[in-house]
Amino acid sequence: MPYIRETILTTRSPDGAVHIAPLGIIQEGEHWVIAPFRPSTTLANVEATGIAIVNYTDEAKIFAGCLTGRKDWPLAPVPGCDVPRLEAALAHDVLEVVSVKEDETRPRFSCRVAASGQHRPFQGMNRAKAAVLEAAILVSRLKMLPPDKIEDEIAYLKIAIDKTAGPDEEQAWYWLLESVIAHLAEVEAGR
Ligand SMILES: Cc1cc2nc3c(=O)[nH]c(=O)nc-3n(C[C@H](O)[C@H](O)[C@H](O)COP(=O)(O)O)c2cc1C
Repeated sequence: MPYIRETILTTRSPDGAVHIAPLGIIQEGEHWVIAPFRPSTTLANVEATGIAIVNYTDEAKIFAGCLTGRKDWPLAPVPGCDVPRLEAALAHDVLEVVSVKEDETRPRFSCRVAASGQHRPFQGMNRAKAAVLEAAILVSRLKMLPPDKIEDEIAYLKIAIDKTAGPDEEQAWYWLLESVIAHLAEVEAGR
């Protein structure tokens, strides 16, 4: 399996709108592959402009917020690039598309790192942050998973939240939990 970094991408549409979305970028030698499913705004923007900023952040609220309709996170300019980064980024890379593998469901944009920046120190691993990341991925796949599997995963991830979360991770967890509960209620009502 390839190595994947879980990141937040910022992209810009041709008419100037900035878009923020969590995406895993896939290592391929010295290049990084962006692989968004169709349809998606990230895909349309990368297709149109050939540029994405990869934001490396451990802020659980940004991952959870993007998955629950909270996409308005502070931005900061990137010198020499018209796509901004997240203000909260610990570091960022500017990715430039060098080739595209077309696909009906999930095209792959192979990118080179055109520039990089460091902004804040990394302050260590935290199980609750990791649990929020896993729960965000779970929320992005709710419609593909059986309710039993969703309930089991939430019960397991909650252990790390209960033991190690700070207020930000608790808030992020709560946002995701709301989505999970709403989804399970919908499934139950449709039975
Ligand atoms: C950690 C994480 C990694 C993700 N990686 C991908 C990915 O590689 N490809 C993808 O299409 N969606 C991925 N998603 C889901 C997208 O964030 C979500 O579908 C998003 O809305 C993209 O669509 P948009 O560009 O239209 O906003 C990921 C979500 C999370 C939480």
